[in-house]
Amino acid sequence: MWCIGYVLLILSFLPCGCSGDAFRFASYYGDHMVLQKAPAGAVLWGYGSSGAQVKFLLSGPHSTQTNTTAVNNGIWRVTLEPVPAGGPYNLTAIQKGTSSSKILLTDLLFGDVWLCGGQSNMAFTLAQVYNASEELALAPKYPNVRVFQAALEQSSVELKDLPRVEVPWSRPSAEILGGKDFTHFSAVCWLFGRYLYETLQYPVGLVESCWGGTPVEAWSSPRALQKCGLQTSESSNIEGGPHSDSVLWNAMIHPLLHMTIKGVIWFQGEDNAQYNQDKYSCTFPAMIDDWRMMFHTGSDSQTAADFPFGFVQLCTYRKHTHDGFPEIRWHQTADYGYAPNQRMKNTFMAVALDLPDEHSPWGSIHPRDKQDVAYRLVLGARAVAYGEKGVSFQGPFPTRVLFYKNYLNITYNQMIRTSPSNDTFEICCSVYQKACGSGSEWFPAALQEQDRVSDSVLVSVDGCSADSVAALRYAWSDWPCEFKDCPVYSADSALPAPPFIINRWPAHS
Ligand SMILES: *[C@@H]1O[C@H](CO)[C@@H](O)[C@H](O)[C@H]1NC(C)=O
Ligand SMILES: *[C@@H]1O[C@H](CO)[C@@H](O)[C@H](O)[C@H]1NC(C)=O
Ligand SMILES: *[C@@H]1O[C@H](CO)[C@@H](O)[C@H](O)[C@H]1NC(C)=O
Ligand SMILES: *[C@@H]1O[C@H](CO)[C@@H](O)[C@H](O)[C@H]1NC(C)=O
Ligand SMILES: *[C@@H]1O[C@H](CO)[C@@H](O)[C@H](O)[C@H]1NC(C)=O
Repeated sequence: MWCIGYVLLILSFLPCGCSGDAFRFASYYGDHMVLQKAPAGAVLWGYGSSGAQVKFLLSGPHSTQTNTTAVNNGIWRVTLEPVPAGGPYNLTAIQKGTSSSKILLTDLLFGDVWLCGGQSNMAFTLAQVYNASEELALAPKYPNVRVFQAALEQSSVELKDLPRVEVPWSRPSAEILGGKDFTHFSAVCWLFGRYLYETLQYPVGLVESCWGGTPVEAWSSPRALQKCGLQTSESSNIEGGPHSDSVLWNAMIHPLLHMTIKGVIWFQGEDNAQYNQDKYSCTFPAMIDDWRMMFHTGSDSQTAADFPFGFVQLCTYRKHTHDGFPEIRWHQTADYGYAPNQRMKNTFMAVALDLPDEHSPWGSIHPRDKQDVAYRLVLGARAVAYGEKGVSFQGPFPTRVLFYKNYLNITYNQMIRTSPSNDTFEICCSVYQKACGSGSEWFPAALQEQDRVSDSVLVSVDGCSADSVAALRYAWSDWPCEFKDCPVYSADSALPAPPFIINRWPAHS
């Protein structure tokens, strides 16, 4: 008996088909999936017997096969030749060795794969939105928009594959999209995919990997955090989801790096309003850079090194409080106020501060109107990710401020539509003609020109002499306006102006 045990032990180390992992795909490949279309090649990977040879046959509108590849250390990985959008396809995977085996994946489509990340406003499901029953009933009408969702997992080390899957690749149905609150499937992710499909008219694959109540640090690699002077630390005694640095990067993003993707959308930042808030203008862009680099290298350069990254600027939380939302909204843009910008190239932003929902059953931090959020994201995707000409996707932003005796003249980069406001604009009055800071005070500044279409507005500087106006800011509060009722919108696209702060003098003068 002892001898047989010994022989089996030796056999299990032989580098052929005698042992090793069963032949299978990594967790996020399966029937009904969407693979990234041409010009990129979709990357496939999985497990097999070390030393065995694997090969893949794709059959459908364009049939192709891969070269034979060896399984190395129990893992195989291949890149398909680029396949144009469409389907359906079957993919046959064959392992040849002492133990040959075969896997068939059916009903695959080629299209654009978008990853949806962030915290609870991304996790918020389609069953929780306004008009949920209509939205759920519509879902099966979009069989070419497919969904997949990673389960909530954290890890202190980078994982090769997802530990668990919440929703395997599926065709959309009311059951899949209308799971329990905050489980599956993300409303913003789904609506983004559905609206995008209306434009693209080819398949869209949606991969949800997000977790409520989590800071950007949890989704960032140690490398990205170091760029912002953050040393890896444990800080787990905070309510909500995991807060320790990199634990969600490790378990919910790193495993996906081999997947070829088109881009990412992201709804996060609430959790950083009170946590490393002042670092967010560094940590958020650094995370984007790091994800881009890692998805690019992880996919053998098939995912673009500068893939498009869309994000939602924070909506609202509480009235008459200061919870740090204006600062995070600003930092979400790397302190430029708009996206894309010099620091954050190939990004797009959906402004959402005019979509408050005081009576949301899930708390006012979770507004139910996700349709407008997704619609605005799709405008950004069309313009930035797909280069569609003539798509307005940015709200008005000031290009120049002129200081007069009793008022300021603010010129915008586009035609605007304004409505009355006494306090959404504010001026910082600094008696010493120095940068806004100690010895200065913020005052509401009323809009003088109202209810008209123009490219400029005048705001009063009552209570401060024009010479002493040190700074001007707009919508700089947690809850600056009521539903779709901010003072400044673009005249053509009805997109809200993002908040801004403009300092007249540098801080060191
Ligand atoms: C895929 O496989 C299924 C099941 O064997 C078969 O019914 C279907 O016709 C195949 N489709 C393609 C495109 O080869
Ligand atoms: C297969 O191998 C040939 C020769 O090495 C190479 O030119 C070709 O690009 C490979 N095809 C794929 C799909 O990897
Ligand atoms: C809900 O449906 C109504 C009626 O069709 C529509 O007017 C409203 O805009 C919808 N709400 C959202 C958030 O889509
Ligand atoms: C602005 O203030 C004036 C004077 O107090 C008031 O009549 C008006 O209703 C206010 N407008 C808004 C939009 O609050
Ligand atoms: C603001 O200044 C510009 C440039 O001088 C001018 O064309 C515009 O009419 C002014 N806006 C208002 C509302 O007066």
